[in-house]
Amino acid sequence: MTGISHLISKRAKSRVSSHFANAPSDQPPKGFKPHEKPLLLSYGTPNDGFFPIDSIDVNLVEFPFEHQVKFNNSMENLSLNEQKKNSIHIERHSTKPNLLDLSRGLQYANVEGHKPLIEFTEDFIKRTHPPAYDNWSSILTTGASDGLNKACDALFDPGDVVLVEEFTFTPFLRFSQNAGAIAVPVKIDLSNDSNGIDFDYLENLLKNWDTSKLPKPKALYTIATGQNPTGFTQTLEFRKKIYKLATDYDFIIIEDDPYGYLTLPKYQPPKKNQFDLKDHLTLDDYLKNHLTPSYLEIDDIGRVIRVETFSKLFAPGLRLGFIIAENSIVKVIKNYGETVNRGASGLAQTVVNNVIRDKLGGVDGWLEWVLKMRATYSHRKDLLLHTIYESEAYKKGLVDVIDPKAGMFVTFKIEFLQNDPNIVAKMKELLWKVISYGVSVVPGHNMTVDQSFSTERSNFFRLCYAPANNDFEIVESGKRLTDAVLEFYENGEKF
Ligand SMILES: Cc1ncc(COP(=O)(O)O)c(C=O)c1O
Repeated sequence: MTGISHLISKRAKSRVSSHFANAPSDQPPKGFKPHEKPLLLSYGTPNDGFFPIDSIDVNLVEFPFEHQVKFNNSMENLSLNEQKKNSIHIERHSTKPNLLDLSRGLQYANVEGHKPLIEFTEDFIKRTHPPAYDNWSSILTTGASDGLNKACDALFDPGDVVLVEEFTFTPFLRFSQNAGAIAVPVKIDLSNDSNGIDFDYLENLLKNWDTSKLPKPKALYTIATGQNPTGFTQTLEFRKKIYKLATDYDFIIIEDDPYGYLTLPKYQPPKKNQFDLKDHLTLDDYLKNHLTPSYLEIDDIGRVIRVETFSKLFAPGLRLGFIIAENSIVKVIKNYGETVNRGASGLAQTVVNNVIRDKLGGVDGWLEWVLKMRATYSHRKDLLLHTIYESEAYKKGLVDVIDPKAGMFVTFKIEFLQNDPNIVAKMKELLWKVISYGVSVVPGHNMTVDQSFSTERSNFFRLCYAPANNDFEIVESGKRLTDAVLEFYENGEKF
C-alpha cells in the first residue's frame, strides 16, 4: 500500500500485464539453466531487414521562423549548404546507446517507451521540476490527451467525482466521462492578477461537501500554468494552499502542463516589429526566476499526476508526451497502455530523442530551444496586447485583457456585457460580428464544464497568438477584433 493507492480505480487495479510470447511465469524445473544465446521463434517482430527505410536525415532550424526572421545579415545569407550542417542522420544500426537507430525505433518496444527517451524525460523533470519524493517515474504517451485519458482511467470508477476549473480544456470532460466520472466545476476568479481557481470557493465547496449527494472528490484537474482558456498561472504560494486542501481532503491533483515552459514577462510595448533573440534569458535565470514550480515540487507522497506533452514545444503531429507520477500509478497506466494503444510511436520517439540528444545536446540544449520559443511567444503576446491597448474599444473601456504569465492564451473581456442578463446570447451575437470582420476567436462559454454554472463569467473570448503566420497577422487580427467590438457596441447585432 502506498499513500495514494486507495485512490486508484478498481478497473485499473484489476488489469494484469501479460504477453502470450513471454517466457512461462511458473517456476522453472529444478536444475533448469537458461541458454546463453537464445534465438527467437516466438515474437511476431519483423526483422529490421524488412523495414523499407534505410536511414533518415532530419534537417533542423536554429530558431523558430528561421526562414522568415531577419536575425542579422549573416543569417539572411545562410546558404543551403550551411543550413544542411544543422542536421542529424538516423541509421538503421548504430552503436550509440543513447541514440535510437531504426532497428530499435521502428521495432515493437516497451509500452512505457524507449529507455533513452524515458531517461531524458526523467532528467528533464529533475532539472526543471524535481519531485519532492523518490518513487516516481515517467511513462511516454501519445500526447497530453492520451496522458489525461490514462490518468482518468487510473483514478475513476463510475460515479467518482473530479473537480475541474469551470473554464477548461473540454476534451478532458470526455476522458473523465469515459471512465464514468462526474465533473464538478470550480469557480475561476477572472480578475486581472488572479491565480485562476477561486480558492475560497474551492475551500468552501470541500468544507460543505454533501456526501449524501455525491461522493467526495477523488481528484482535481488543473491547468496551473498558462491556463487554457484563461491564461492564468498559479503562484507557488497558491499551489501550496491547494496542495494542502488535496492532503486534507485526500484527493489527487492532475496537473496538465502543456504551456508552463513558455513563461512570459509582464507586458512591455514591443520595441520593434520583430523580436530579437539576443534579448532572451540565460538558462539559470529562466530556471531560478521565471519557471513557475510544478505541484510535483511540493508533493512528498505522490499525490500529483503531471501530464506533459511535446505538442506545443516540438510538434503536435508527433503525438508524443509523458506522464510523471508515483510508481504505482505509472504501473496501472502502463497496463492500460497495453490495452489501448501499446504506447507512443517509435518513429516519433526516435526523432525527438535523437534531435535532442544528438543535435541539441540533451536537457540544457532542449531548454535553450524552449527559450527561443519563449522569446517568440513573448513578442507575439506583447504585440497583440499592444494592438488592443491602442484600440478605441480599449480606450473607451469597452474591453479589457489579462496579461498572461505563461502560454499562448489571452482572456479578452467584453466589459460592457459584464452584468448583462443575457451574456451568452450577446456573446454569440458578438461572435458573428467578429467573424464578419475576418477573425476567429473562442468564446469562453464554449469551454465550460457547465454553461449555466459559468454564465455570469462568460463575457470573454480566448485569443491565441500561436497560429498567426507573422507579426502583421497578429496586429491585423487585434485590429479587426477591437473594431468589431466597437461596431457591436455602437450598432448592435445588425449588419
Ligand atoms: C490544456 C491542454 N491539455 C492538453 C492538450 C492536448 O495536448 P496533446 O496535443 O499533447 O494531446 C491541449 C492542447 O491544446 C491543452 O490545451
